[in-house]
Amino acid sequence: MSNNNAVFDIGCRLCPRLSHFLNETREKFPDYHARPVPPFGVASPKLLIVGLAPGMHGANASGRPFTGDHAGIILYEMLHKYGFSNKAISTDLDDGLVLKHCRITNAVKCLPPGNKPIGDEINTCNRYLVEELKTIDKKAMILSLGLVSHKAVLKALGLKQSKYPFKHGKIYQLDDGRSIIDSYHCSRYNTNTKRLTEAMFSEIFIQIKAQLKI
Ligand code: URA
Repeated sequence: MSNNNAVFDIGCRLCPRLSHFLNETREKFPDYHARPVPPFGVASPKLLIVGLAPGMHGANASGRPFTGDHAGIILYEMLHKYGFSNKAISTDLDDGLVLKHCRITNAVKCLPPGNKPIGDEINTCNRYLVEELKTIDKKAMILSLGLVSHKAVLKALGLKQSKYPFKHGKIYQLDDGRSIIDSYHCSRYNTNTKRLTEAMFSEIFIQIKAQLKI
């Protein structure tokens, strides 16, 4: 676990490569958020969803995780279908979307070049996840979208990576009452190739609802 834990900071510039890339992006797209993207949702969620990182023309543009991203279409549809929000679509910060029992965040808060954060960046940003995980419900579920998110969550919780291998659909019950559920990331690539189908993603939310009893 990091010794430099910190609450989300929109002014964070700890990763030189990401900071430089955001500066370039702001110049190219002056209307974009192009800063670290804050978590979105309730303060003490029963469900914390952890994605990878903002996409260039999605969360990085809108300033809300998975908003404007292809990946967000299916994610926000599922949240609405299973009672975690008041609307099925997330378009922008002023769209009136409200999440219930749920918060969405990313393992890396800044847009990475090529959608690929490097190890140092994932580790540096982990301090924010550590703090976010302290605020979730005592019996909360953490939905890790993809391997990078899964590993970042384990690291933030101080859990041994080898004891909890990533597996789609697997629920790990933790000793403190919380649990982690893994899903393939709902990226365009994974949904186009059918690695993650709508039915598979639905099944993840059915498991979540069953366990949370909400
Ligand atoms: N948008 C995000 O905010 N996170 C992802 O992991 C993918 C798209």
